Amino acid sequence: MKKYFELDPWNIIQNKLEPEDNRVAEGIFSIGNGYMGQRANFEEDYSGETLQGSYMAGIYYPDKTRVGWWKNGYPEYFAKVLNSTNWIGIGVEVDGDKLDLEKCKVENFERVLNMKQGYLCRTFTAEFSSGKRIKVEAKRFVSIVNKEIGAIKYSITPLNFSGMISFSPYLDGDVKNTDSNYDEKFWSEVSKKTEDGQALLLIKTKKLDFYLCSLMKYDVLKQAEKCKCNVEHFEKEKFVGNTVEVRVKENEKVAIVKYVANVTSRDFKPNELIEVGEKILQKAYNKGYENLLNEQAEAWEEKWKESDIIIEGDVSAQQAIRFNIFQLNQTYTGEDDRLNIGPKGFTGEKYGGSTYWDTEAYCIPFYLATADKKIARNLLIYRYKQLEKAKENARKLGFQKGALYPMVTMNGEECHNEWEITFEEIHRNGAIAYAIYNYINYTGDKLYLSEYGLDVLVEISRFWEERVNYSEEKHKYVILGVTGPNEYENNVNNNWYTNRIASWTLEYTIEALDYVKNNETSKYEELIKKLGLKEEEIAKWKDIINNMYYPVDEGFGVFLQQDGYMDKEQILVKDLDPKELPLNQHWSWDRILRSCFIKQADVLQGLYFLQHLYDKDTIRRNFEFYEPRTVHESSLSPCIHSILAAKLNKEDKAYELYLRTARLDLDNYNNDTEDGCHITSMAGTWMSVVEGFGGLKVKNNMLTLNPFIPSKWKSFSFKVMFRGCLIKVKVGKDNIKISNESKKDIKILVKNKPYFINSLKDITICAE
Ligand code: BGC
Repeated sequence: MKKYFELDPWNIIQNKLEPEDNRVAEGIFSIGNGYMGQRANFEEDYSGETLQGSYMAGIYYPDKTRVGWWKNGYPEYFAKVLNSTNWIGIGVEVDGDKLDLEKCKVENFERVLNMKQGYLCRTFTAEFSSGKRIKVEAKRFVSIVNKEIGAIKYSITPLNFSGMISFSPYLDGDVKNTDSNYDEKFWSEVSKKTEDGQALLLIKTKKLDFYLCSLMKYDVLKQAEKCKCNVEHFEKEKFVGNTVEVRVKENEKVAIVKYVANVTSRDFKPNELIEVGEKILQKAYNKGYENLLNEQAEAWEEKWKESDIIIEGDVSAQQAIRFNIFQLNQTYTGEDDRLNIGPKGFTGEKYGGSTYWDTEAYCIPFYLATADKKIARNLLIYRYKQLEKAKENARKLGFQKGALYPMVTMNGEECHNEWEITFEEIHRNGAIAYAIYNYINYTGDKLYLSEYGLDVLVEISRFWEERVNYSEEKHKYVILGVTGPNEYENNVNNNWYTNRIASWTLEYTIEALDYVKNNETSKYEELIKKLGLKEEEIAKWKDIINNMYYPVDEGFGVFLQQDGYMDKEQILVKDLDPKELPLNQHWSWDRILRSCFIKQADVLQGLYFLQHLYDKDTIRRNFEFYEPRTVHESSLSPCIHSILAAKLNKEDKAYELYLRTARLDLDNYNNDTEDGCHITSMAGTWMSVVEGFGGLKVKNNMLTLNPFIPSKWKSFSFKVMFRGCLIKVKVGKDNIKISNESKKDIKILVKNKPYFINSLKDITICAE
């Protein structure tokens, strides 16, 4: 396997510029703060392979759908988070020669993502065709303290000459998305202003009227002293900048420090943006670059205190888990309940930055355990707020009642237009219901049900009620024509996972209704009235629960992925020629659909969610049947398998799959990191450690652990927040130490034995 980056516990390091892999590196080294994100593009011009990407969370465009064959019910548009003003740009010339790493001789190149302190830096020497050599050091970050602020320090030292260096800091709003359906640009200019040392650009999306105002200010420093330089202004459509020239002597370092504020109409009125932006920028400028950077380091230190996982004895695994946690914390902070988590975060354009079932199925547990409960709650409320749209979506598809949440969305409307995904991957509705269960099970916040949860659960249940049909032949309820989580089969009947999650949703909804009825009677009456819920509906749900059809294979003793699964030629992944993997890059789609190969956990996804309802032998039989047929070509796959393998004491398998999820992007395992990193599966990586190796679960309102340590590791430790307690778990070869770092006492179960841990005390248990 190709090695892309150096191993280091806290840094991602690239020590050679590899133009053919530049897009991969640009994704990996991305920086973000939940509010905005930036790929690791170079500040100076670059004519080699690059995907310039600056993204503002929640600023999207309804790009007109493009499909080969229109089908009724298709969404009108495909939403995409917009590539926005390129705010990092600094053109560089040396005695009139433009710096472009594609055209210079580059040596000592190093790009480092410092995860501990949250910044990106790059150093190199470049030699021009004239023979002149310069050393460049560039460092930048987007602040997690002042969310609108990004700052860059870019220094040049002439190594073998004295001459003229020019810097051209700019803001470029003339950008486009590479995935624009009709090659359209989505921004238009509203106003701009250029002055000495500063400029601003106000642009607006051509539809939906999102405004973005980017403002910059800069200083040029020689020997750390600000220097006065000649300034020229330049402006084009959607583009503003300055050029400054500085005369420097051999070995004399000159630096430009660029401060940028990005403010948007999501937070302020369009006509206030310039004024607000100027204030925010001035405040950051007054603080100065070094202070901003120090603040950044301190704020990251705080984040790490709660979310770090420490692995001793395996630097590759250590680096990987930190990379995953770092990217998750860069993508979503939970402060804004209008936002969600795009599968690629801010690291690329694939998946359009939209919300998928990934959030509920994979991300919720990470935020539940590493942040205040309001963060995960905000993710649930995001869906609650989109309930009306989910009902509209169901009507569009011809359902009389209920809600079908979209598979892909920005504002609650479905915006994905591959028919099998839009119309058939209805299992996503189940994950949204499951997330409510998961949240309440973890936090104990049962009030959520009457406040928001039941509205969603009842409407989802109504959808399932209408979507099932009674088969006179089977005397059972069936669900026909679906695509399960395994997208390598379409339009199948009775996908076990979909049938199971549908009927589980009905069960949970009834249980939740009973709870509210018994505990908040007057709220219950109000809710029933508001929802117009009738006894007959509940009776019908019970009938569906009792008579749902589940395909099984008696011979293997497994649940069947779908009615026709065993008709397929049964081959195992180990018998494939490795050159044919990943299948989606080597086989025709038709061949994939006919094969038995599984893209990602499907039956096993259901057994993961509903582990508490199945015995180990059932899980084992299904795991042993399905895993060898699974190609894990969705990033969401290895983590679920790793957790189940851990549960089944298949420790080597659990570790192998952990490495695959943890280093998926760092090792470009599926050969697709150039599209950006797999952010949502990173939460799955975290789950593999905490739920898999740590065996963490919440049972009967109690935190339970069942840890084991992968043989390569000396120890690993993680922290979880649970109902007001911060618990640290350190698993070593010989013992398990659990510390209660909070003011409350707690009772927990470890390997099925109860332990009390008083506030600020710890216990040590023999690992056996
Ligand atoms: C997976 C889906 C997932 C999507 C976004 C696809 O490859 O099959 O389950 O929702 O990626 O991560």
